[in-house]
This record gives sequence, structure tokens and C-alpha cells, in this order.
Amino acid sequence: MTLRLENVVPWGRTMAEYVAMFDLTPQDLELRILDCGGGPASFNAELTKRGGRVVSCDPLYRFGAPEIERRVEETYPVMLRGVEEEKERFVWTRIGSPAELGEVRLRAMRCFLEDFEVGMAEERYRADSLPELSFRQGEFDLALCSHLLFLYSDQFDVDFHLGSIRELLRVARQVRIFPLLDLAGKESAHLRPVTETLERAGYTPHVRPVPYEFQKSGDRMLVVEGAAAAPISG
Ligand SMILES: C[S@@+](CC[C@H](N)C(=O)[O-])C[C@H]1O[C@@H](n2cnc3c(N)ncnc32)[C@H](O)[C@@H]1O
Repeated sequence: MTLRLENVVPWGRTMAEYVAMFDLTPQDLELRILDCGGGPASFNAELTKRGGRVVSCDPLYRFGAPEIERRVEETYPVMLRGVEEEKERFVWTRIGSPAELGEVRLRAMRCFLEDFEVGMAEERYRADSLPELSFRQGEFDLALCSHLLFLYSDQFDVDFHLGSIRELLRVARQVRIFPLLDLAGKESAHLRPVTETLERAGYTPHVRPVPYEFQKSGDRMLVVEGAAAAPISG
């Protein structure tokens, strides 16, 4: 399917948010990390500056920095208005207000945009999409997936989730997915079927609390380790 830029809502988080969402330890940050569905998050830019080894993939990366920047400028006020209208659905402790959220998101996206062209040349950003990635088997220790799987449960079915997790486990030893809520703020209807199917296939999926909550009750991640007994299917 061809990705159209007008269908993309670029909205990127910071490295501090990634560290909290995925409960990343200093040791975790030394691993070879894949940020799948990285979008305009500044995780790659910030971690690379600190000497980390991280690659981000997203279909968005087939566009140039000026096009992505234009799309950020178009969608930013719309996203912020949406958050203001539904302010009570979020926890305003780490980030104190919609205005502060806007500043944090814009800072993250600017940091991403400044890094993007150099990062593309260094192959730290790759225009890849789930459920099939072009990376080699075992190329990463840890694959992170923030605000894509489970969140967009209305767009992606259980089979897409299983195929995507299998693909992430092909390229990485461990996969962490956050949040486990859908866009309405409810636990994703796919979570149980996905974890039960993974268990039947010999994996040991764990739901773990994390020190991050912005969507109310969105304070858990799914962790899945590789080396399954059988192939995953729905
Ligand atoms: C809400 S953004 C999250 C960005 C970033 N992970 C963060 O948390 O700040 C979701 C991202 O998923 C990307 N995306 C959509 N479909 C995808 C797919 N099939 N495979 C990988 N990424 C995808 C979008 O382009 C978008 O950048």
C-alpha cells in the first residue's frame, strides 16, 4: 500500500519519554536498538549523540525533511486542539499542560528533523514498514514499538499484530511494545488474543508496569523474548 503524506500524523516523543515508556536501563541503552514506527521522535537523534547504537524505521522516512516538516506544521495545531478538547483523558504530571505538551512535541520533532538527513545517510533511518522489515535476522538486541501496535487496533487486526511481532522477533532478541491501549483509551481488544497465541507458540509474553502514564491507565508495556518453539499464527 502506498503511504500518502496527508494520511500521516507526525507526533514524536523524546528520549526521556522512551526511557520511561520502555523502562530502559543504562544497560539497555547500550544494546543494538531498533525503534520501529519511530516517526518524528527524537529518540534516535538523542541516543546517537550519547554514543548509542539505534536504527529507526518508518514508512514516513521515504519523504524528505522539508515535506515532513511541512506535515508537522499542518498537523501540530490540529493535534494540540484535539488534546485540549479531551484534556481529562490524560495525566498531567510529567507534562503539566497541553501548552507544555506542544512545546515538548515540537522540540522532539525539531531535534528529529535536524538529524534526519545525516541519519538517512548513515542508515540510522530506514523507510521500512511492518509487517515486513528489510533487516537481517538477529541484527538487533532490542526492538521498541511506541504508539503504533495496539494503539491503532481499529486499523490493524490480530493477524497484523502477530505477523509484526514475529517479524520484530526475527530481527531482535526482545520486543517491547507501548502502550497497550487503543485510541479510545481502553485496553486493546487484540492484547489477549495476541498474548494467548504467542504463549501457544512457545513464547513467554509479559505485561510489565512502566514508570510512564500519559493516556490514563496507559502504564504497561508488552515484553516478548525470541526463540519460540513454534511459528506464530493467528
Ligand atoms: C503515533 S506515531 C509514533 C511515533 C513514535 N514512535 C513516538 O512514539 O513518538 C506512529 C508512527 O507509526 C508509523 N507507521 C504507520 N504504519 C506503520 C507500519 N506498518 N510500520 C511501521 N511504522 C508505521 C507512522 O508513520 C508514524 O510515524
